[in-house]
Amino acid sequence: MTAGKRAVAVLISGRGSNLRALIAAAVADDYPARIALVLSNKPEAEGLEIARAAGIATLVIESRGKARAEFDAEMDAALKSHGIELLCLAGFMRLLTTAFVQAWYGRMINIHPSLLPAFKGTDVHARVVACGVRFTGCSVHFVSPEMDEGPIIAQAVVSVKPEATAEDVAAAVLEQEHALYPQALRLLAEGRLVIEGQRVRIS
Ligand code: GRF
Repeated sequence: MTAGKRAVAVLISGRGSNLRALIAAAVADDYPARIALVLSNKPEAEGLEIARAAGIATLVIESRGKARAEFDAEMDAALKSHGIELLCLAGFMRLLTTAFVQAWYGRMINIHPSLLPAFKGTDVHARVVACGVRFTGCSVHFVSPEMDEGPIIAQAVVSVKPEATAEDVAAAVLEQEHALYPQALRLLAEGRLVIEGQRVRIS
């Protein structure tokens, strides 16, 4: 059943395991969103196969060699032509222009594999292990113009054993990501997230 569900596009650049989790959640009748489009900036992204296998429309808009503004404008036009209401970034490795972020503010969310605001950026789990933190996790947040900032919607915590490697931490965090992202998208699609400055209130 798709009537009444919000139309979501998932933006990817690679593996697509979070995409897979979102697709799995969205097939339930009572889930308030449907994955209407999977958009990749890389033609070789493995996640495209996951989408195709699930019968979801896919679109590749190559970003390589393109100015940011040009790429974002192409993407914006494609999202509008597919009737997309909400965006989930899931391993989308391309910085967005302020104009694009502002146009979608409050309707675009991202998952990051740390407890923000700690460990922004890339190579997170190696830095987590190197710092000897006892706890890490993942965060879903609204996308704002600064990378890995923006009001936090939901977080999950993972404890880090002294002997854990970056790979161990990555696997434990990823498992939490797959549970957390569908929950956060549910709240967004239900219209229950209220942005109040830097904070999100769940109504
Ligand atoms: C995840 O760890 C996510 O938190 C980060 O990029 C990774 C994407 O993995 N933003 P996948 O493509 O969803 O498997």
